[in-house]
Amino acid sequence: MQLHISPSLRHVTVLPGKGVREFIKVKVWSRRLSYRMLFYALLFLTFLLRFVSVLSTVDTIDGDNKCSTIGTSFLLLLLLLIFVSFTVVFHVCLLVPEVIYQVLEEPISKDELQGRSDIPQTLEEFMADIKESKSDAKTFAVKLREMVTLMEQRTRTAKIQEYLYRHVASSSIPKQLHCLALRLANEHSTNAAARLQLPSAELVPALVDNSYFHYVVASDNVLATSVVAMSLVKNSLRPEKIVLHIITDRKTYYPMQAWFSLHPLTPAVIEVKALHQFDWFSKGKVPVLEAMEKDQQVRSQFRGGSSAIVANNTEKPVVIAAKLQALSPKYNSLMNHIRINLPELYPSLNKVVFLDDDIVVQTDLSPLWDIDMNGKVNGAVETCKGDDKFVMSKKFKSYLNFSHPLISSNFDPDQCAWAYGMNVFDLEAWRKTNISLTYHYWLEQNLKSDLSLWQLGTLPPGLIAFHGHIHVIDPFWHMLGLGYQENTSFADAESAGVIHFNGRAKPWLDIAFPQLRPLWSKYINFSDKFIKGCHIRAS
Ligand SMILES: *[C@@H]1O[C@H](CO)[C@@H](O)[C@H](O)[C@H]1NC(C)=O
Ligand SMILES: *[C@@H]1O[C@H](CO)[C@@H](O)[C@H](O)[C@H]1NC(C)=O
Ligand SMILES: *[C@@H]1O[C@H](CO)[C@@H](O)[C@H](O)[C@H]1NC(C)=O
Ligand SMILES: *[C@@H]1O[C@H](CO)[C@@H](O)[C@H](O)[C@H]1NC(C)=O
Ligand SMILES: *[C@@H]1O[C@H](CO)[C@@H](O)[C@H](O)[C@H]1NC(C)=O
Repeated sequence: MQLHISPSLRHVTVLPGKGVREFIKVKVWSRRLSYRMLFYALLFLTFLLRFVSVLSTVDTIDGDNKCSTIGTSFLLLLLLLIFVSFTVVFHVCLLVPEVIYQVLEEPISKDELQGRSDIPQTLEEFMADIKESKSDAKTFAVKLREMVTLMEQRTRTAKIQEYLYRHVASSSIPKQLHCLALRLANEHSTNAAARLQLPSAELVPALVDNSYFHYVVASDNVLATSVVAMSLVKNSLRPEKIVLHIITDRKTYYPMQAWFSLHPLTPAVIEVKALHQFDWFSKGKVPVLEAMEKDQQVRSQFRGGSSAIVANNTEKPVVIAAKLQALSPKYNSLMNHIRINLPELYPSLNKVVFLDDDIVVQTDLSPLWDIDMNGKVNGAVETCKGDDKFVMSKKFKSYLNFSHPLISSNFDPDQCAWAYGMNVFDLEAWRKTNISLTYHYWLEQNLKSDLSLWQLGTLPPGLIAFHGHIHVIDPFWHMLGLGYQENTSFADAESAGVIHFNGRAKPWLDIAFPQLRPLWSKYINFSDKFIKGCHIRAS
């Protein structure tokens, strides 16, 4: 036990022994007392405190550590009586004085703290401050509250920024990819060899020939598409049977055409086509475009817009970041939605395999054409039965809002979810259903109910539209989550037929997981002049 008496005799501090955090401060309100009285009082107090501290420990163990309970204990009462009889007003409190609670509970506004330089920035500063000024409980509490509030505000801002940084890092285009697109566009305008019709005229019949294996990739990322194409063709046992249909947007069309003109993957057939070049697109009303336009309008107004979302002080940073993400156009890209119109885009094809641009093919995919789909439309890997707690434990309730009556009355929350990214689509079977109509109907419902059925992505309306039309395929054909999980081991990933870097850590970004990136980058020729010229490196 330590005793500290301030020179002015205004404060007496008793620290009850090693390691015990709570301090007892006795404030002497009146100086009208003799040293002798004080000495006796303290002696007595010191003696009693040993006892009280034992009692309070016992009380604490009993689960009752409230100041007031101890205050009513007989010993304390006695203590107080003695003080009164000394005609000195002592202010005694054990553990946390009530005034500290009072101060800490008072709300503090942001503006109160703005521009104040006297608020301690660290715990060390705070302690030094308190020691120096020998403050009373109230000052202590006020300072504590100010410091904690300030720190909380900073942490909060930093947290939101961190979450958003990760979002921005994963959705913005790195400058190397930008560079690649520009160089290729330039090549397209200056080099006739970069402007070949893809495919060449004699191969055009293959595009509608159902004896070929047809693959579709929709992307505005040339490098990613080149990896999908290269890995698909390189691992194929019969590359001459492959037709790869690349759908891109207007701005990426020239770079994409230039890349595949200069890097043909013969004997495979490659078609590069921008969305506006499809007949179906020029026929007027395109529901997917209309839906996206409306969706973007609703999103920008959603919850009062981004500033209102950030202004809510009671919301957790991770929730704020998620809400801001919901506003992002990333989740509303045409390239993501377009797969719902595959039957219209390829009216003569019976079956296609649709690949996302963040996958790598590691095996021959022709066995996918032998799968008997039992009349179902979408051959997909289920995502509710893996060991992985995050990527492989998804049910309908993970994506859809089952608090909403429209959802809960139509679907089963425990229905297993499945994955987009590597899907076998039986277009013939699809044309006999209302899948695309259903998709747009639900997109509309979600907009009407202010995005309360689901918030992000194209999978939730996909889950709804393909409900009852799924044929489950072996997980070997599609290993997910490489953009989420550091834990995916290289060996596991290497042995899968198709790996999918879904999640934010795309292999073309700085934030990619270094141990998994080689599985992707091995399909890039780093001596290529375009790759080299844009400083795209192996690691
Ligand atoms: C702020 O977030 C809390 C917690 O989610 C919510 O209850 C409250 O309604 C929100 N306030 C505003 C103004 O949006
Ligand atoms: C598709 O929708 C139309 C009109 O809503 C309906 O008449 C038809 O029976 C539906 N077809 C299927 C296969 O559900
Ligand atoms: C889910 O639906 C309920 C009922 O309409 C709604 O109150 C709630 O805000 C929705 N949740 C989300 C996250 O949109
Ligand atoms: C990664 O694996 C380790 C050990 O198996 C485990 O403790 C950890 O929780 C895993 N991390 C994630 C994100 O799954
Ligand atoms: C990689 O690119 C260089 C330069 O264009 C070329 O000489 C080489 O053959 C390419 N390597 C492979 C494996 O295609």
